[in-house]
Amino acid sequence: MTTQRPNGLPVILDVDTGIDDALALAYAVAQPGLDIVAVTTVAGNIDVYRATGNTRNVLAFLGREDVPVHRGATRPLTRAQRGASHVHGTDGLGGADLPESQRAIDVTPGPATIVRLARERPGELTLIAVGPLTNLAIALNVEPRVAEWIPRVVVMGGAYHVPGNITPHAEFNVWADPEAADQVCAAPFGDLMMLGLDVTMQVGLSREVWADLQQRTDRPAAGELAVRVGRQTFVDAGMPQMYLHDPLAVAVAVDPTLVTSETVRISVTTSGEEDGRTVSVGPGPTQVARGVDADRFLAGVHRALGVRDVTAQ
Ligand code: RIB
Ligand code: CA
Repeated sequence: MTTQRPNGLPVILDVDTGIDDALALAYAVAQPGLDIVAVTTVAGNIDVYRATGNTRNVLAFLGREDVPVHRGATRPLTRAQRGASHVHGTDGLGGADLPESQRAIDVTPGPATIVRLARERPGELTLIAVGPLTNLAIALNVEPRVAEWIPRVVVMGGAYHVPGNITPHAEFNVWADPEAADQVCAAPFGDLMMLGLDVTMQVGLSREVWADLQQRTDRPAAGELAVRVGRQTFVDAGMPQMYLHDPLAVAVAVDPTLVTSETVRISVTTSGEEDGRTVSVGPGPTQVARGVDADRFLAGVHRALGVRDVTAQ
């Protein structure tokens, strides 16, 4: 579906917070009319307990302690967890050291929350998944009608016509739980959009813009969050830019016209050297993004973080 989305878009965000997951949350809370119904967390970049604490603390830092956060799967469907702390730091947030959220713990687990909300609001919700797809796969296993009740799913995952980022063949979210990704791609969702490295690595937050955020931002909380989570990438690792994998998934959920796509059937390799590879196996219903309006997306990220003089960036 490629129409502009009206305001008042109710979403479930499924995250493994992580540095770019934190920026995706900052982007989401900056979107007028985006109704974050719930956030579910999953083991991925870091263990699910730290991912949950990070998610709660990021939302509190952004002034959105009202958003419920439901802890999800502690590990992939059939394997041991394989993390990415080498990228996101041992705390999963690049050492951001945020204050602790004071929100009471939301006790319903992530997959059950997905099933409950889908059943209560059939046809209404968009699910945005920016970590391993374990929670969505469990929800589908428990209640296959989730594929019917959730009309639209936007996934940050896969590498379709480009190399992987965790192995030469695989993107991290899919590699972390290939069985879950394969089940999600095989489910009969009416509108499944896969945003792979093909598009997410076409645009990044520059070190210059990040450094400027330390001096000035029109959005103090979001700007300071970006400064804190970016330090490991820009200072410790000395990277020139930070890819915005997860914020792109939120941006596309709000405005699908940001990307162009092909529709294919995707299968996921679940063994051997190409474990976690996303493979197009012929005609099918899954939208795989091929191109992105990088300038328009980056301008939106800059606005969400309060970057000034966007036109001069
Ligand atoms: O490959 C990028 C993805 O893996 C992003 O979601 C990042 O947060 C990591 O989970
Ligand atoms: Ca992520």
